[in-house]
Amino acid sequence: MRVISVVGARPQFIKLAPICWRINQYTEIDHEILHTGQHYDEALSKQFFQELNIPEPTENLLIGSGTHAEQTAKILIGVEKFLLHHKPDWILVYGDTNSTIGAALASTKLGIKVAHVEAGLRSGNKKMPEEINRIIVDHVSDLLFPPSLASHNNLITEGLQQKSKIVGDVMVETLNYMKTIVLQNNLPTELKIFATIHRAENTDEKSRLKFLIDSLSKSKIPINLFTHPRLIRKAQEFGISLTKGNLRAVPPASYFQLVTEIISSTGVITDSGGIQKEAYLLQKPCITMRNETEWPETLNGRWNKLDPELELLGRNWWFDVNQNDHSAYFLGDGLASKKIIENILNYSPV
Ligand code: UD1
Repeated sequence: MRVISVVGARPQFIKLAPICWRINQYTEIDHEILHTGQHYDEALSKQFFQELNIPEPTENLLIGSGTHAEQTAKILIGVEKFLLHHKPDWILVYGDTNSTIGAALASTKLGIKVAHVEAGLRSGNKKMPEEINRIIVDHVSDLLFPPSLASHNNLITEGLQQKSKIVGDVMVETLNYMKTIVLQNNLPTELKIFATIHRAENTDEKSRLKFLIDSLSKSKIPINLFTHPRLIRKAQEFGISLTKGNLRAVPPASYFQLVTEIISSTGVITDSGGIQKEAYLLQKPCITMRNETEWPETLNGRWNKLDPELELLGRNWWFDVNQNDHSAYFLGDGLASKKIIENILNYSPV
């Protein structure tokens, strides 16, 4: 059986890693990687392949940046050409980026089966490009792998239960792997908050970005802001300095650095879906600068708080979590990659 994983952006490399580590054990599967090139900076791409031992992609389509239509259209064309040449039985797509939707559409129209890793996530906010991508990808895919009961239930609501196999979250495997490595090293000891901002709704409007940066700069505890290229570009365009008061802008974190910094932090402030989950699994309180979350389970025990206006920042909220109300099991048992591969091998159409 020939299986191709299509990835393009940073969070997808983290989800791809455990599939790569495990799939070699199945001699009946020939697995290849197609990189769309949606993310091309070394810090956002190559570094993750290296530190997570992901094999070199067979090809990189070098799509790069663009408007949503331009980027998705280039991915569609590039992926179609690749699939026509390589003729896989299955493609695996990950998460909710423009690479996910481009690959899923190209594949399904060629009659090649699509499996979606991290299916069923919904924010209920259709202004997010990722939400549109999720809905379309889930509806055209042949197999859906929701990471949690909440995401499985979203698929049931949309009538997709027959294609849905709840397997747990592959990111648990990647995080556990890196946590073991990180804990063999000395951890930083200074008190600080780990922060990221990259969502369009927080970066692309001057008044919103200025508000967030001004609020963060007034934090009592120092904040390290790990910058995404979109944030840097927008801050430059708007003339906003990202290093100010108690806020310090630092380059994007590698995965090793991300896990190190979160483990040794006081808490996390983010608008990323993945980082909310990583903070929860590493038992760090998290402020999410958004109105909604795709990971409602992280709100239990006050581990994660939705706070788009950063009202909690001035308070002593870090110590407000309920240590007794924490369970990593909502993301499965750490065997998601195995279950995904075996579901594909044993697939029979419904
Ligand atoms: C994409 C995903 C988002 C995911 C995020 C992780 C979509 C719609 N969004 O958002 O769900 O959480 O990746 O990072 O696919 N840029 C660079 N170098 C790079 C990559 C991007 O400079 O290697 C700059 C470009 O100027 C680009 C901007 O960042 O215009 C945004 O990049 P893009 O890939 O379009 O979206 P992300 O914001 O990264």
